[in-house]
Amino acid sequence: MLGIKALPREEIEAIFSLAKSFQEISTREVKKVPALRGKTLINLFFENSTRTRTSFELAAKRLSADVVNFSASSSSLAKGETIIDTVKNLEAYHPDIFVIRVGSSAALYALTQHTEASIVNAGDGRNEHPTQALLDMFTVSQQLGSCEKLKVLIVGDILHSRVARSNMFGFRKFASQIILCGPPSLVPFDCAEEGIRVEYDLDAAVESADVIIMLRVQQERQTSAFFPSLREYSKNYALTPRRLARARKDALVLHPGPVNWDVEIHSSLKWRVHPLILKQAENGLAVRMAVLFSVGTKKRTL
Ligand code: CP
Repeated sequence: MLGIKALPREEIEAIFSLAKSFQEISTREVKKVPALRGKTLINLFFENSTRTRTSFELAAKRLSADVVNFSASSSSLAKGETIIDTVKNLEAYHPDIFVIRVGSSAALYALTQHTEASIVNAGDGRNEHPTQALLDMFTVSQQLGSCEKLKVLIVGDILHSRVARSNMFGFRKFASQIILCGPPSLVPFDCAEEGIRVEYDLDAAVESADVIIMLRVQQERQTSAFFPSLREYSKNYALTPRRLARARKDALVLHPGPVNWDVEIHSSLKWRVHPLILKQAENGLAVRMAVLFSVGTKKRTL
């Protein structure tokens, strides 16, 4: 599962269907089924994570897989071992699935050459974050009935966002329209050419949207100043009560997390938007159970 770009719509629908059936497991007193018993999963995170890492770990455990968590900061990477040698050494333990988050897409694709295990991409640089898009789309389809023919507005740091790219690929498979909005310095030039609408005025952009995906400002990936200040950014591109009042009453507001309140979303909207953002996190567990079950039982790249 390396990305949404190459994932057929039917595979996405199959994951949604599995995720729906797996949701119930997490409400049981004994939250475990033997679906992946005997399988071993290594969570290999070279970048920080809360939601993705813990939900993959829980997803694997709820399917009865054995899980090893690898944290770059406490590993032999600190002694100079390379990422590829790290994977080759872990490969010696015969894992079935690697869940990998890494800072560059080239590194993820290089790692695929050094393991027989299935690989699930948990975020590769600014390229893709497929399970985030799947959980976003699953959340939308649970709330609105489907992801079909919607207007999906993605706001903020598009340039550095793997979440934006995966969602663009995903929603377009369901004939949804994508509108990108952010400072010109953070919206890539080639987007319009791909048939995606670009809008720089958030006040106007929110009006027709069925779904508004607010993105985190990824300061850790910004090598130069893309806007004058965070204050200036939030003045133009934060979701505020005034802007939300212009949107459709039933518009969904999503955020992949972590949220920088008052930068991307005004904190006075927390009561309105946080429940659905937390529902995204909850759905992420079921979606990741579905993805692990698919790769763990079919033994193939989705
Ligand atoms: N949305 C997301 O990927 O969050 P984490 O970085 O906490 O995993």
